[in-house]
Amino acid sequence: MLSYRHGFHAGNHADVLKHLVLLGLLDKLRSKEKPFTCIDSHAGAGRYDLFNAQAQTNREHESGIVPLCNARLVDPLLQHYVERVRACNADTRLRFYPGSPRLIQGELREHDRLHVLELHPAEQISLQEALGQDRRISLHLRDAFEGLLALTPPEPRRGLALIDPSYEDKKDYQRVQTTLVKLQRRWPVGILALWYPLLARQRDHSHWLCAALARENLPDMLQLELCVAPQGEEFGMHGSGMLVVSAPWQFGERMQSSLAELVTILGGAATCRIQQLSGAD
Ligand SMILES: C[S@@+](CC[C@H](N)C(=O)[O-])C[C@H]1O[C@@H](n2cnc3c(N)ncnc32)[C@H](O)[C@@H]1O
Repeated sequence: MLSYRHGFHAGNHADVLKHLVLLGLLDKLRSKEKPFTCIDSHAGAGRYDLFNAQAQTNREHESGIVPLCNARLVDPLLQHYVERVRACNADTRLRFYPGSPRLIQGELREHDRLHVLELHPAEQISLQEALGQDRRISLHLRDAFEGLLALTPPEPRRGLALIDPSYEDKKDYQRVQTTLVKLQRRWPVGILALWYPLLARQRDHSHWLCAALARENLPDMLQLELCVAPQGEEFGMHGSGMLVVSAPWQFGERMQSSLAELVTILGGAATCRIQQLSGAD
């Protein structure tokens, strides 16, 4: 039984990195008229109330989305991201934060498609409510890793899979590795975007995963990381990363200015890193 609830972490620095990269990739897909398919394999609740008990436990959004919403932004992608977050709120107060499926839904055009997968029963109910009736979206109550392979290659063929496990089960690292390799073979034109945590005690898991995937020689693999604190000995997430396989042309360069501005806004010990692991940007 899954116990992870994303409501405790909604709008934190990891969501900011993941959702910024997601919107950057969607912008690339939208730059061509041809329709696309998105698969959000670990969808979560779709929308989060930052005033509720879960979000208020550690108030993680206060060092993530809140400083961004309060900043005067220059970078167009950061501006777009904050507009999308604001669009989730009826007034100027930041109460609701959109999860990845809601953000993707906001970027879909008439012929684009979205498949969302989620296993947690309570998150499924919230997800249905957050997305409403939308003929472009199919909700699947099934295992992400099995569903990703079953749904690919999708129609329309071009598109993106966001893979955002909770890593609650440590076997997820191994499952991600094997699934991503199979997925790339089944869907070579698909952009695959994987989120991973940088945790003091578990740094080895993410290191292992990135190194294992780098050895697979997957095409145009880009790594984008955001750290908000130096790596400590104690348990805690000091940063996170996104691995993008089949990254669009010059995507790394495009993200450089967004992440640089983000780091300045977050301040403190925040740093970012963009690295090409295979192919050429
Ligand atoms: C990090 S949260 C997702 C957050 C969401 N992607 C966002 O950015 O707003 C991970 C979600 O994956 C779900 N999950 C975990 N293992 C799963 C699996 N094997 N199949 C489908 N969903 C799973 C959890 O219930 C949780 O809601």
